[in-house]
Amino acid sequence: EKGGYDHFMLKEIFEQPQTIFDSLRGRLDAKNGTLTLGGIREYAEVLSNANRIVIVACGTSWHAGLVAEYIIEEVCRIPVEVEYASEFRYRNPVIGQGDVIIAVSQSGETADTLVAIEAAKEKGAIILGICNVVGSSIARASHAGAYTHAGPEIGVASTKAFTAQLAVLTLVALKVATEKGSINEQRFQYLLNELEAVPEKVATALQLNDQIKAIAEKYKDARDFLYLGRGYNFPVALEGALKLKEISYIHAEGYPAAEMKHGPIALVDENLPVVFVATKDSYYEKIVSNIQEIKARKGKVIAIVTEGDETIPAMADDVIVVPEADELVAPMISVIPLQLLAYYIGVLKGFDVDKPRNLAKSVTVE
Ligand code: F6R
Repeated sequence: EKGGYDHFMLKEIFEQPQTIFDSLRGRLDAKNGTLTLGGIREYAEVLSNANRIVIVACGTSWHAGLVAEYIIEEVCRIPVEVEYASEFRYRNPVIGQGDVIIAVSQSGETADTLVAIEAAKEKGAIILGICNVVGSSIARASHAGAYTHAGPEIGVASTKAFTAQLAVLTLVALKVATEKGSINEQRFQYLLNELEAVPEKVATALQLNDQIKAIAEKYKDARDFLYLGRGYNFPVALEGALKLKEISYIHAEGYPAAEMKHGPIALVDENLPVVFVATKDSYYEKIVSNIQEIKARKGKVIAIVTEGDETIPAMADDVIVVPEADELVAPMISVIPLQLLAYYIGVLKGFDVDKPRNLAKSVTVE
């Protein structure tokens, strides 16, 4: 049932070229320049007229929501807030007609997310569910939605559900953008092509497996890790840190790279590995200076970079090269080495990576 893999987590990491493809299939037609999302067809206009969009989720799904915030604001020009479901539901949030809530959940059963959308629905908001489990409570409580087609996720740490969420959230953003007319035809077509190319680039990133295993061996005894990224890759840094914590029980923090100077930089010494998600995008020059700041304090830099980059490899201790992609879709690719890194460190430390201690696959208690 693990298909020849040692763990479900590894199997699910390796399934991602297929699960991303499945989440795009029948929806994205790059050749004809069209995008169909049956589940939100009736609400596409409401969405494009939204005053604001609030994304509610927990954990890894919340990280997918953060990437979506950047994408939706960029292509739809609608203000987006991303909320931890637990905080949103308890603070009597200001919600009303014209607000659209997007709930993101693999299981569709997370109690806080479910109660958050039920409360928002009562106040007149339109609810869109992005769930993986068909017929789940969150899917049923939503007015409309689009499923991720990641298939059953058995490993407790979420991997393939995350990239499927990113694929579907990008489709939703692009659909709303065309409806609204906030994206030009050329950029739209370009992004459709970029999305279509993601599964293959993820497959290429998976070939880094052996290299990542070696990096895991080198850093597995570190006490702490810092993960840094900017822009679309900032949530990827958060996700990398979460994966490491869950699977290897190493303390890890994700931060926006520039925010490092406001505190975490105090932790940097020759024993601290700092993982930079530093692919070529509009933030690139800025992240290069952040890497210099870490090197000046003797931190160990593990950098995820785009093919062809020569600047960062000259500065970093370890370099992980991923295929080039537009910054909007890059997180689906740059997260792959981070999933593998957490997996191999956990395995090398002898932990049960499919069932990390204290964690449950779906959190149905508040
Ligand atoms: C992380 C993880 C959790 C879930 C969170 C939300 O690897 O698995 O953080 O992402 O509990 O779960 P769903 O997406 O089912 O609502």
